[in-house]
Amino acid sequence: MIIDHDVLVLGAGLAGMRAALEAARNGADVAVVTKVHPLRSHSNAAQGGINAAIGEGDTWESHAFDTIRGSDYLADQDAVEVMCREAPSDIIEFEHMGVIFFRRHDGKLGTRAFGGASQARTYFVGDITGQALLVTLYDQILKAGVKVYEEWFATALYLEDGACRGMVAFELITGELHFLRAQAVIVAAGGLGRAYEPSTNALICTGDGYSLAYRAGAPLEDMEMVQYHPTCLADSGFLMTEAARGEGAYLLNGKGDRFLKRYAPIKMELAARDVISRAETVEIAEGRGIDGNVLLDCRHLGADVILKKLPQIHEMALDYLSIDMVKEPVPVRPGMHYEMGGVKTNIDGATRVPGLYAAGEVACVSVHGGNRLGANSLLDTIVFGRHAGKASAAYIKSVTRSKGGEDVLRSEQQRITDLLARPYAGETHARLRLELATTMDKNVGVYRDEAGLKEALTKVGELKKRYDRVCVGDKGRVFNQALQFTLELGFMFDCAESIIRGAIIRKESRGAQARTDYPERNDTEWLKHIDVRYCGEAEPEISFSPVTITQWKPEARTY
Ligand code: FUM
Repeated sequence: MIIDHDVLVLGAGLAGMRAALEAARNGADVAVVTKVHPLRSHSNAAQGGINAAIGEGDTWESHAFDTIRGSDYLADQDAVEVMCREAPSDIIEFEHMGVIFFRRHDGKLGTRAFGGASQARTYFVGDITGQALLVTLYDQILKAGVKVYEEWFATALYLEDGACRGMVAFELITGELHFLRAQAVIVAAGGLGRAYEPSTNALICTGDGYSLAYRAGAPLEDMEMVQYHPTCLADSGFLMTEAARGEGAYLLNGKGDRFLKRYAPIKMELAARDVISRAETVEIAEGRGIDGNVLLDCRHLGADVILKKLPQIHEMALDYLSIDMVKEPVPVRPGMHYEMGGVKTNIDGATRVPGLYAAGEVACVSVHGGNRLGANSLLDTIVFGRHAGKASAAYIKSVTRSKGGEDVLRSEQQRITDLLARPYAGETHARLRLELATTMDKNVGVYRDEAGLKEALTKVGELKKRYDRVCVGDKGRVFNQALQFTLELGFMFDCAESIIRGAIIRKESRGAQARTDYPERNDTEWLKHIDVRYCGEAEPEISFSPVTITQWKPEARTY
């Protein structure tokens, strides 16, 4: 089937739906293509809150400075300024749409503290803030008449004369491939967490958007900057929100010591995530952990705060570890959480490929640089989703409608048919993904060095060769998840390779890139972005671009 729209959005998380809403408000005929129902998007899992300088005595400049310092000065300051200036009105708009943010006893919106911030400026709905924003936005896009192709999986973007004009997607329920044609495409397909094991990310976070845009010619920027969240539940790796520490929880080592006094004596549990994850890793490596974990201690917060403000994580600790946080500390450790880099865009979400936009975690605007502050990701999705939606609706007025695309549909149909026909030769997508993801965690995690990174690159090369022999066990067409997982694994290889290459090239320690062989930040040589461009069978092309500094000169980062 060939389907026409003005603007296609890939992904129905907060960035995708916010982009869709804005494009529709600006007169475009918009459709969202999503591999899960919109309310199952990973934005749903964002717990702690969303930042904005709304409160008395707070300013957007203070929010911007905290963000830039948090980024270890790698964020583009013009983009950070936009995000922090526009945050208050975007949050108020969501409140007016119906999000029931926490209110104080005097009826005003209340905040909680979050890491790396000089003020408590995180607005929240218990510990389900992402979910609250998502359901409200879903109502809004339906009201605005946005068409949703749910449980459709994108396999390729379509380029015509160098511009992006659509995509091929298969409908999971039938297995039929369709060509969706448009004048602009916004990739908002979320993160790549499953390229790591363990990760806080949902199983759907497989880097689809990065790979699709990269293969269409859009460079990826600063991919080496992978965030480890300091409080992931032991065993499962589930997120235990930073809001717990925002409410006052302690981190203890195996000796019962609040060890952060030796690493971040001023901010303690509210230092930036990269700082705390490194501190925990050192404590565990030096034998002061407990079974590879440290402890998150909420007992002194009391049952009332825990049950009212942190009910989801209370339930998770109970369900998965049989631990009642009211009575006992919970074992936690650093776990892969977020990709700060992504598809290189300008403030309006435009990539280097005409007609192709990106927003949300998959994009690198870049506002997070080397380390993202907690509660700035939800903000990024709604501010830059809105920008991308508006810009795409303006862009389509300047281009004529495409009539092509049948050839890409035919070639994707053939590719899938060939993949399904491949006989079993000893390789499965599940085994390869696990080997990839555990290698990424071991060699490209909190601490890195040249030898480990090179070993990881070699391993990815070997896995890619074995991937060419992977057999899809299910030969049917209806809800063929084996086929979907196999295609997703292909996307994850592109992500992993660009992360490792960036990490090898950046010979310094900055934010989430902690190189034991280059332990210092080196502004003279490395205050720049690393851009990776796809070159087919050849090695990717690497280039550098300057960091935009407006008013905050790089200085030493202390917490
Ligand atoms: O800890 C958290 O609630 C995570 C928030 C975020 O990544 O922004």
